[in-house]
Amino acid sequence: MIVSFELNGKDVHVETSSDRRAVDLLREDLGLAGTKESCGNGDCGACSILVDDKARLSCLTLAAQLQGRKVVTIEGVCGEDGRLHPVQKAFIESGALQCGYCTPGMVIAVIDLLNSNPSPSRNEIREAISGNLCRCGAYQKILDAVEEVVKDSKKEAS
Ligand code: FES
Ligand code: FES
Repeated sequence: MIVSFELNGKDVHVETSSDRRAVDLLREDLGLAGTKESCGNGDCGACSILVDDKARLSCLTLAAQLQGRKVVTIEGVCGEDGRLHPVQKAFIESGALQCGYCTPGMVIAVIDLLNSNPSPSRNEIREAISGNLCRCGAYQKILDAVEEVVKDSKKEAS
């Protein structure tokens, strides 16, 4: 079957099988290896992508379910000029990563959160990333990074 969808702002049409997982389509067929796979069964959040602006687990999503959707992977969150997304920038500046394996999924989860709640409390941030596991235990710095993004966006708005 051919699946057609918008991927990081561009239309793609890709031949795939009906049981192909989205994570495999993205990483192996389309070469977007920024999306990570760890558990492969919905428990870690490493494989998160945005589908129609909502975070989805690509290991539990079939490629066919992307048909007609707007899909953004970690490669697509930066600006057109290549500038890092504010969440990516804050993660770097706050030292919110160690090995970085969970980071793409964490960034996607945080973008999803800020899309719906631009001013989350620390507890709301904690809740939003509760499905994303960090084996390095960088949680406190991740929370700090998200709080920095929120603080900066409030400053810009005032
Ligand atoms: S790899 Fe998808 S949730 Fe862990
Ligand atoms: S930074 Fe290593 S798993 Fe999170």
